[in-house]
Formats: sequence, C-alpha cells, structure tokens
Amino acid sequence: TQAPVLAIDGPGGAGKGTISRLVAERLGWHLLDSGALYRLTALAAGKHGVSLEDEARLAEVARGLDVVFVAEADSTRVLLEGDDATTTIRTEQVGDAASRVAALPAVREALLSRQRDFRKPPGLVADGRDMGTVVFIDAPLKIFLTASAEERAHRRQRQLREAGVDASLSSLLKEIQARDARDMQRSVAPLKPADDAITLDTTRLTIPEVVDRLTELLTQRG
Ligand code: C5P
Repeated sequence: TQAPVLAIDGPGGAGKGTISRLVAERLGWHLLDSGALYRLTALAAGKHGVSLEDEARLAEVARGLDVVFVAEADSTRVLLEGDDATTTIRTEQVGDAASRVAALPAVREALLSRQRDFRKPPGLVADGRDMGTVVFIDAPLKIFLTASAEERAHRRQRQLREAGVDASLSSLLKEIQARDARDMQRSVAPLKPADDAITLDTTRLTIPEVVDRLTELLTQRG
C-alpha cells in the first residue's frame, strides 16, 4: 500500500504554504510545494528564452526541470540548475507567469510524475490547487483551505511590509482576484474543492489553530 497523503488545496494567500510546512514538520512527513514547480517552470522558461505561449517547449522545460529542494530549519531552499532560486520564485512576476504556464495541459501532464514521486513513507503533505482533484485522487484526507479575498490581501500586505515593501491593499486585492479567476476558470484542473474535501475557512483562525485542526482531522481519519 502507498504512503498516506494529506492534500491541501485552495486559492493563493490562504496560508497553505505555511500551514503545510508546519503540519509536515509536526507529523515528520515529506512536503510537496507543487506551486514551486509551476513557478520554477516559468523561471526556467525565461532563463532559456522559451515563450510563455509555446506549450510544447514549456512542457519540455517542465519535464527537464533540474531542481533540488533543500530542507532547512524553517524553510526550504530551492536550487534551479544549481542556482539559488528561493526568493526569485516568490516574486509577483514569477507568480503571474506560473499561473499562465499552469493553464497549459501539456505542462500539467509533464509535472504529474514528478509530483507523485514525492509520495514516500511515512507520508506526504501536498500543497497546491489540484492535489485532491487530480494528482492524489486517493488521498485519505483532502482539505480545501480558503480565506476571504480581503483577508488574503491583508495577509499579503503584512508579509510584504515585513520584507520592507509597500503595496496598496486595493492593488493586492485586484491581483488576488485576477489570480483566483484564472485558477478557477481554466479548463484543465481548475481550482475547486474535491467532492470528498473538507473546506476550512481560515479568515478568523490563527495559524496554530489551523495546524491543530488539521492534525486532529488526520488522527480521526487515521
Ligand atoms: O501556490 P503558488 O502561488 O506558489 O502557485 C503559483 C501558481 O501555480 C498558481 O497561481 C497556480 O496557477 C499554479 N498552480 C497550479 N496547480 C498547483 C499549484 C500551483 O496550477 N497544484
């Protein structure tokens, strides 16, 4: 039998990244940040002069991604072709390009087996948009993590402020809504809760509250 998977899907900015990392740490499970693979595909395409419109070549880039994830104390370092890409892949520009390449079926197909390779004992926490609906259909626990767009814009603003960047709430809200729309309306693997997913609205919850809730649910299922 295969190692268990906790699938965590939801819109950008709902806290999936932080929550997934903390839950994986608490359980001693592996972690898949699937969004990073789309971001890395977009970044690698830029590096090699591949157009974001060229689906066939983008799929080749995705299949050939030379990436290493290095787990550190409370983050993961990402190496693309040996170069540190940890902060570069987090920029708005790369995020935007990632959501464009993620709409291409050949790219999604190319990344499937790479994502499934992360599933190893004792278990995997998989963070993304289609973990429960496509990549790990048989995951024993699927969570759809949401928060209102306004709350997500606030969280993003706080994050940026900590990094010394000023951004207006209204422009952040607009970006979030545009990204949501693109993720939900695409024809392949659109963002939506799996039929058997549990939806958790984190708008009024703290990070430790969400982590507790998820480990609790996992114990009930296990
Ligand atoms: O989660 P993150 O913001 O890093 O993801 C970047 C982009 O990659 C998302 O906006 C989404 O379009 C895409 N993505 C996806 N499927 C996933 C993870 C991310 O389409 N499983």
